[in-house]
Amino acid sequence: MKSGWRLQTQTGCTNTKAQVSQILKYCNSRCLAVVPQGGNTGLVGGSVPVFDEVIVNMSLMNNIISFDKVSGILVCEGGCILENLITFLDNQGFIMPLDLGAKGSCQIGGNVSTNAGGLRLVRYGSLHGNVLGLEVVLADGNVIDMLGTLRKDNTGYDLKHLFIGSEGSLGIVSKVSILTPPKLFSVNVAFLACSDYFSCQKLLMEAKRKLGEILSAFEFLDSKSLDLVLNHLDGVRNPLPPTLHKFYILIETTGSDEPYDRQKLEGFLLHAMEAGLISDGALAQDINQASSFWRIREGIPEALMKAGAVYKYDLSLPVEKMYDLVEEMRTRLSDSANVVGYGHLGDGNLHLNISTAQYDDGILTQIEPFVYEWTSKHRGSISAEHGLGLMKANEIFYSKPTATVSLMASIKKMLDPKGILNPYKVLPHSLSS
Ligand code: FAD
Ligand code: MLT
Ligand code: ZN
Repeated sequence: MKSGWRLQTQTGCTNTKAQVSQILKYCNSRCLAVVPQGGNTGLVGGSVPVFDEVIVNMSLMNNIISFDKVSGILVCEGGCILENLITFLDNQGFIMPLDLGAKGSCQIGGNVSTNAGGLRLVRYGSLHGNVLGLEVVLADGNVIDMLGTLRKDNTGYDLKHLFIGSEGSLGIVSKVSILTPPKLFSVNVAFLACSDYFSCQKLLMEAKRKLGEILSAFEFLDSKSLDLVLNHLDGVRNPLPPTLHKFYILIETTGSDEPYDRQKLEGFLLHAMEAGLISDGALAQDINQASSFWRIREGIPEALMKAGAVYKYDLSLPVEKMYDLVEEMRTRLSDSANVVGYGHLGDGNLHLNISTAQYDDGILTQIEPFVYEWTSKHRGSISAEHGLGLMKANEIFYSKPTATVSLMASIKKMLDPKGILNPYKVLPHSLSS
């Protein structure tokens, strides 16, 4: 794979949107392919050039344009790093409605373009709900101003949704307007053990019902994921005694009344313990312990990278079926791979990862197309939150009917007739020009 030609917008320049527009106009007129690039943390190869594409890296378009404390609406440029926005908002008493392990590098334009989900979607919903407006530069250099800051606006088609999750294939996101929730100070985190997957599901149902409005994360990992983190990341330790539990759940609550929220969570945990849903657990006593619990969950992708080669699958599935796939995959691969399952259980999103010493075509043929067929059979999605990028573009038909994919291709053709924006990504190769 040849690396592309890298263009960066100039720092300190107030006119960067015009520069992106000029670059695209130029590339379009000469049929030069372009790869929009944010923090380059994507997991499906969407931000990397395949041949000789021009990379338009957005890092220097990183200004915060405005923040309205009354409405909580933030307007910023697409190249702002998510963690910088989190820090900015923290100082204003607000939070970003999304959070993910890659926050230190990923950019809001990349988040919007991948429709990133992350760790708190269960509470704050997806970017389709939180993004109020976008400014987008089209393939021909035209700038489309959809940068509304209104919560309600039913004047015709809401075109910004086309760009949320379009992975740089329809336009470059130069500005984002996003609704941010106020920061609530009562945060509690529990790290729990369950002896079987059925208990994890029941715990989720109970948590939704009993913790209700204060539930802000419900994440799960199996014992093999925990082992990976403990074996490969420095300074991470298991907060529970080393008994063999099969599953672990991280529950976070966020609310505005510390004694009430704590009591509510403690009552819930007691009830879950008595009902036999959890076999052990620890409730963080301070912010450091809470961060150490989160480090276990957020550290899994890093631990997998350190462990060797990894085949990554990001699937939406009915919660009750989800872990069957992990077990079936283990049976298929027997001792040739370490099959781990973790993810955003509260959103029905499984991260199935298969770790091996090195990449091997033999192992790949055991995994694919089985994993996609299984997901399709259970009416799941072969990409819950990471997108299709280069690596999964050809698998789209497992999740979308042919007529829908054809309509996607028509929209692409209309917005980018010369096919310069992120070629070979998102749409199957048979339909991308
Ligand atoms: P990039 O990787 O640079 O690009 C991603 C795609 O968006 C590419 O197709 C690119 O062309 C396009 N793009 C980027 N910027 C723009 C722009 N301004 N305009 C138009 N197109 C653009 N994802 C989740 O959903 N949930 C998670 O919990 C999560 N956790 C992660 C944890 C780790 C440790 C890592 C490494 C990744 C994780 N990811 C997660 C995946 C990744 O971080 C997200 O997809 C993220 O939104 C990508 O943002 P980015 O700025 O790095 O985009
Ligand atoms: C996560 O939830 O940790 C991410 O989506 C990243 C990954 O699955 O590797
Ligand atoms: Zn995830």
